[in-house]
Amino acid sequence: TTGNTTLDPGYTNTASCVSKITFIDGDKGILRYRGYPIEQLAEHATFGEVAYLLIYGELPTEQEMSTFQDKVLGAAMLDERMRDLFRCFPRKSHPMSVLASGVNALAAFNSGHLSVTDEEQIETATIRLLGQFPTLAAYAYKSSLGEPFLYPKKNMGYVANFLRLSFGSPLEEYELDEAVARAFDTLFVLHADHEQNCSTSTVRLVGSAEANIYASVAAGVNALSGPLHGGANQAVLEMLGQIRDQGLDAKSFVSKVKDKESGVKLMGFGHRVYKNFDPRAVIIKKHADEILTSTGKDNALLEIAKDLEEIALNDEYFKERKLYPNVDFYTGLIYEAMGFPSSYFTALFALGRLPGWIAQWREQMAEPGRKIGRPRQVYIGETERDYPVK
Ligand code: SDX
Repeated sequence: TTGNTTLDPGYTNTASCVSKITFIDGDKGILRYRGYPIEQLAEHATFGEVAYLLIYGELPTEQEMSTFQDKVLGAAMLDERMRDLFRCFPRKSHPMSVLASGVNALAAFNSGHLSVTDEEQIETATIRLLGQFPTLAAYAYKSSLGEPFLYPKKNMGYVANFLRLSFGSPLEEYELDEAVARAFDTLFVLHADHEQNCSTSTVRLVGSAEANIYASVAAGVNALSGPLHGGANQAVLEMLGQIRDQGLDAKSFVSKVKDKESGVKLMGFGHRVYKNFDPRAVIIKKHADEILTSTGKDNALLEIAKDLEEIALNDEYFKERKLYPNVDFYTGLIYEAMGFPSSYFTALFALGRLPGWIAQWREQMAEPGRKIGRPRQVYIGETERDYPVK
């Protein structure tokens, strides 16, 4: 129940924060953004609507959505000097390192609105971050290819603009594939927020020290890059590729995973909260089937993924540990089918998660008597001892 929850005064010792944004029931596989079930949002809402809902608390009217979209797309262009920032990175830099550096640099290029209390400055920073983040992500990709950057266009949708900046070239106009844009929109909706996961808690913890929104979100980007968190979508594709390239079959790979010594994990499986199924994985698997069939891409990896899932879901090792496919298990297959290299998948996760990070940072800033996050510890080190004075 929400709204009339009377919190035990000790809640600060158990929950990291109180929030009105996202609700998860890990046993029932329930995920809701501001009360709306993820299944309905994935089916009917655009990513722009969901971003507005997470940040402002209500779905936008048509007028509110049009004004919001205009403002965000009007803020999509980077300071021209930031384009030079990308030229400093080696081409083989991981996109997440470049993206985190770019987001952090936004604080330097947008120093006029770093306040954590002034509503107007917070709103300006929100719009600029939403607008410039996809541009940064696309430029991180382009600079890894050594290709020139395009400028964003106001008359294109948010996702279409991002795809054009990522795949377009001065040589020829980018032909938008509507089905691809729609699939991305749904994938971003599914990634938009997820309560207090590692990267979102990082954004809130850094923000709780009254660090500006760019510094806090840059910290979230870095947390998300870990292979146990957002980096898992890249790790899943590499795992499927290894199975195929080594001529392994799914059964022998699962045996390797169960053989604890190997330290091999079934990437894309397991979750700290979902212990029966990840509702997002159910939706994404459907899309993977549709997109891979429509793009006629190599289905070999999809078949390996399905075999792994089938074997694991019927294997005691996974069942007793409550390990099921999570949001990352199928997303990489879709991203690859749409033309992105696996090193870029986690940047796509970050793009989807951005509205959630912003909404959670704003909620942290608005928290009455906002206090710096200060987790305690259980000390298990040496007891007191004296320095051996000679
Ligand atoms: C995300 O928190 C969020 O909401 C995150 C996220 C979001 O939207 O922000 O949902 C996104 O990060 C999804 C998770 C992506 N990560 C992966 O797919 C990496 C592989 N998964 C694991 O590393 C692991 O499952 C975790 C970290 C995701 C969750 O760990 P758990 O399930 O809480 O359990 P655990 O690490 O305490 O392990 C319990 C047991 C252990 O075996 P035993 O020591 O009991 O014998 O389960 C085993 C683990 O070895 N185990 C796995 C496994 N995950 C856990 N064994 C094989 N393969 C795996 N993937």
